[in-house]
Amino acid sequence: MRFDTVIRNGTIVTATDTYVADIGIAGERIAAIGVGLPVENAQKVIDARGMMVIPGGIDVHTHLDMPFGGTKSADDFESGTIAAAYGGTTTLIDFAIQYKGQTLRHALDIWMKKAEGKATIDYAFHCVITDIEGAQLDELKAFVREGVPSFKLFMAYPGVFMLDDASIFRTMNAAADCGGMICMHAENGGAIDVIVQRALAEGKRSPKYHALTRPTTAEAEATHRAIALAEMAGTPVYIVHLSCNEALEKVREARDRGLRVYAETCPQYLYLSLDDMDAPGFEGAKYVFTPPLREKWHQEKLWQGLAKDDLQVVSTDHCPFCMKEQKELGKDDFTKIPNGGPGIEHRLSLIYSGGVHGGKFSANRFVQLVSTAPAKLFGLYPRKGTIAAGSDADLVIFDANGEQTISVATHHMKVDYSMFEGTRVKGVTKMVLSRGNIIIENGKFVGRAGAGQFLKRENPARI
Ligand code: URP
Ligand code: ZN
Ligand code: ZN
Repeated sequence: MRFDTVIRNGTIVTATDTYVADIGIAGERIAAIGVGLPVENAQKVIDARGMMVIPGGIDVHTHLDMPFGGTKSADDFESGTIAAAYGGTTTLIDFAIQYKGQTLRHALDIWMKKAEGKATIDYAFHCVITDIEGAQLDELKAFVREGVPSFKLFMAYPGVFMLDDASIFRTMNAAADCGGMICMHAENGGAIDVIVQRALAEGKRSPKYHALTRPTTAEAEATHRAIALAEMAGTPVYIVHLSCNEALEKVREARDRGLRVYAETCPQYLYLSLDDMDAPGFEGAKYVFTPPLREKWHQEKLWQGLAKDDLQVVSTDHCPFCMKEQKELGKDDFTKIPNGGPGIEHRLSLIYSGGVHGGKFSANRFVQLVSTAPAKLFGLYPRKGTIAAGSDADLVIFDANGEQTISVATHHMKVDYSMFEGTRVKGVTKMVLSRGNIIIENGKFVGRAGAGQFLKRENPARI
């Protein structure tokens, strides 16, 4: 057997197994896993002794080059995917947004153009549906057949993204007919808007009021309603960016009843809290995203949820806006601060550090949360999300004991602050391969803009 690349003696960690072996790569795929694989004819031999070798991270929630609130997210598909690669993410799923009056096809075409020639890692799209007045539900079914099987709906942002319950239910019925997955932004947008207007009328305009006007009950109520609608429609539902214990309880109850209900949380909800919004002056704007940061005690509940499989995935909801000229748009009014934070680069380190070194769960569970479950839930498994013969050679050589301090001074996201500034993490990405090609080596990006491929996906698996 002849390999192009052999990774020798690494500790292979998948969602189920941990063992020392060699990985032989031929072309873009893993060709063999074994002990003492032949290296004579390999062009590249990588010594991974003492290192973990894990499947490339899959981030199923990013917003690159996304218009929002009169500006657009600061990373495009080139800078965002480079930053992702530095952190060990080799696949992402972004959101193609259908605005009112548009077809879903138009949305997908726009986002395909944004990514083409720029993405350095493989990518796919969920389609955000904001309007079903036309033939969009027929399009939804065509999208599922064509490899775009997941759709995000909003229960928040009235007048912009929000769908009413009847439209949500119709969309869920269409998804149920063809095996699609509904991803839900679960916050009660109507109630939140009333609270926001009251705060503004009382002169409460600083960034912290973004969080104080979006109570946990609004998230829990919407999570419960999303689950109930999905149960009636008979479709799986995936709650995005779950931030609080009250919403987690709704997910847990549904899963205990055997429903196909899934949820993700994000590193910001595990590491940051409402206290961070007390930062002086306008600094709290760094943490203006939705759902907002919660009281600190929720963090422990979310870590437990990840350990016990009440939560299945950690994504980033990477949606970066610079403080200068972008977040500043809301200097005098928190409702004008573009919503979102930067996180695409440090997901693996933060979750390994807090989760595995923090004693919450095993390295296998870590792989499940950042790679395998996302691949299964979003129709990419076993091409992505595991280390097996025949899978894409998307691999990360990860130093479980390496340490790093997260900082704007060293990160690669095109944003002028870090949400995790000064956080010391243990667990660092050393080398990254995307379909057999090395893209991160010796602390440098050595990949190529445009090398990332659009991924057609299967229907979501039951996990
Ligand atoms: O604040 C956030 N999360 N911005 C991105 C859009 C979304 O709702 O995911
Ligand atoms: Zn959302
Ligand atoms: Zn998002």
